[in-house]
Amino acid sequence: MSGKTYPVFEAWAQNALITKDKYDEMYAQSINDPDGFWAEQAKRLDWIKPPTRIKNTSFDPVEIKWFEDGVLNVAHNCIDRHLEQRGDQVAFYWEPDHPDQPAQVITYNQLHERVCRFANVLKELGVKKGDRVTLYLPMIPEIAYAMLACARIGAVHSVVFAGFSPEALAGRINDCDSTIVITADEGSRGGRAIPLKKNVDDALPHALGVEKVLVVEHTGANITMKGGRDVWWHEAAAGVDEFCDVEPMGAEDPLFILYTSGSTGKPKGVVHTSGGYLTYISLAHRAVFNYEDGDIFWCGADLGWITGHSFTLYAPLSNGATSVMYEGVPNFPDASRFWQIIDKYQVNQFYTAPTAIRALMGAGDDFVTKTSRKSLKLLGTAGEPINPEAWEWYFHVVGEGRCPIVDTWWQTETGGCMITPFPGATEMKPGAATTPFFGIKPQLVDNDGNVLDGEAEGNLCILDSWPAQARTIYGDHQRFVDTYFTTYKGKYFTSDGCKCDADGDYWITGRVDDVLNVSGHRMGTAEVESALVSHDMVSEAAVVGYPHDVKGQGIYVYVTLMAGVEQSDDLAKDLRQWVRKEIGPIATPDLLQFAPDLPKTRSGKIMRRILRKIAEDDFSNLGDISTLADPSVVDKLIENRQNR
Ligand code: WT7
Repeated sequence: MSGKTYPVFEAWAQNALITKDKYDEMYAQSINDPDGFWAEQAKRLDWIKPPTRIKNTSFDPVEIKWFEDGVLNVAHNCIDRHLEQRGDQVAFYWEPDHPDQPAQVITYNQLHERVCRFANVLKELGVKKGDRVTLYLPMIPEIAYAMLACARIGAVHSVVFAGFSPEALAGRINDCDSTIVITADEGSRGGRAIPLKKNVDDALPHALGVEKVLVVEHTGANITMKGGRDVWWHEAAAGVDEFCDVEPMGAEDPLFILYTSGSTGKPKGVVHTSGGYLTYISLAHRAVFNYEDGDIFWCGADLGWITGHSFTLYAPLSNGATSVMYEGVPNFPDASRFWQIIDKYQVNQFYTAPTAIRALMGAGDDFVTKTSRKSLKLLGTAGEPINPEAWEWYFHVVGEGRCPIVDTWWQTETGGCMITPFPGATEMKPGAATTPFFGIKPQLVDNDGNVLDGEAEGNLCILDSWPAQARTIYGDHQRFVDTYFTTYKGKYFTSDGCKCDADGDYWITGRVDDVLNVSGHRMGTAEVESALVSHDMVSEAAVVGYPHDVKGQGIYVYVTLMAGVEQSDDLAKDLRQWVRKEIGPIATPDLLQFAPDLPKTRSGKIMRRILRKIAEDDFSNLGDISTLADPSVVDKLIENRQNR
């Protein structure tokens, strides 16, 4: 904890939507009278049938329902209801990968027409309410149209990040039994082409249920179209009506599935539903970012992740906002790009991940200071703990000391921000997520489940349900119960460590399970290990995280080879490539150490604690190694580490 505190700016303390008094009053009501509080907040949305039953939730047994008798449509709330007032207002400024390529401006009227066409194309391809539709698309306007089209007709989208491999894509298609995949010829990131259609072609022999592939033409690359299966979006769109009715949906009908990594097994399909999710994130967008009518909002997150779902797409549109959507990366063509985009569109609120901030900080201040950034009012960060040094740089250099920073802690499973500063109400502490959002009751417990009150450090739990909470894991409700509600019975366990300081502010310290956070992307060590052991020459692998200046955590792998296989630099390189191919570039190991043996307990369990210490070059603090089956293994590993 850096110990530094920045008071709320005077103008914000007076004029922000949520002032200190307002926060205290609303938070108290949200806890004491959740039904009253959320019934009022549900009025943010247009309901076909307004809910009369508000909160019906239990963590033991696990059953979570919000607004259960309400009927609405998410796409209607994000588009149609704005048309009368805002038809010609810009919904999205779309900025391409390269600044010389043409940008696009999409108004609410245009959004409506394109989403309707997309919806009609999906219907023609046989998609019905409740069907799962897999999206494997770059950050182009069509990914927004496709998601909203699904919402419009009641189909459930499953967006797979376009950086994932064909293998990873096939696994996610199969898990939710999608019969249709929407993709593009290619994506373009940092000037590099991503062969999306080819990846889909490579995935489908392993995903035999897919009947149709809808292909968006983006770069114009030469691709092969398979007759009877593959359909060009622009050809199909030309033949359908430009109007499509919205499907009335129950508040608890699923809106989307999003796969995320856990500490064991394959990625989990986290299921979010309609009414509670949209109510909560719509309020969060207003309250946390202080979004006001006419502001230009930019969340840099890819739609392949939850931050993109909630804050690049659904929340801003639900509030009739104007947003920026950017195809590319922070440092292309150079490290000024983010700040140039902010100037180009006069962005008022900007939201990005600590890893991007650290990377840009490393490029030097000139890239920032040569741009204006005068339009900025507020800065946000999410996805991983932000180190105070990066926070201070974001605050002083990017925001010139005049923009509050909101460091928002949340998760794929939570749908929206859970612990976060409110810019008009909360003192800022670099590195602290500070204070709970409305309706959120955090609690710290020790490993035995004892409650830790006051100033303490422990495991972060949430005591009661909030509307944007995930409802289940697709096809495996028991896994949902086991993963989140069993470690500490009757509580939602976040798997994050957390400190509470003397002021009652929360500081997230990072995952306490076997999940890595690499550049803000969640990665299960088990996934990387299973990719490694699927290689012919590998007999065993253990994966841990280690501190990395830009990525936050890097991936460190220990590999035991099959008997008789010689270790070599070439093989190390091949194995890193192998993981990249199996999962995707974000999973590429940073460091690989051959380990003739791994430290194991007598019962055969790998002692990761020791492997983590060695990866961190912290050899003095290995703790008790006497329970190891063969303690001498540790010395050999240290020797190899030092010689590498
Ligand atoms: C994990 C969830 C923000 C949603 C997108 C990431 C870490 C997230 C913060 C923060 C410290 C953070 C946690 C969490 N995390 N935000 N502001 N400060 N840590 O969602 O991919 O599901 O990852 O990201 O460890 O458990 P996700």
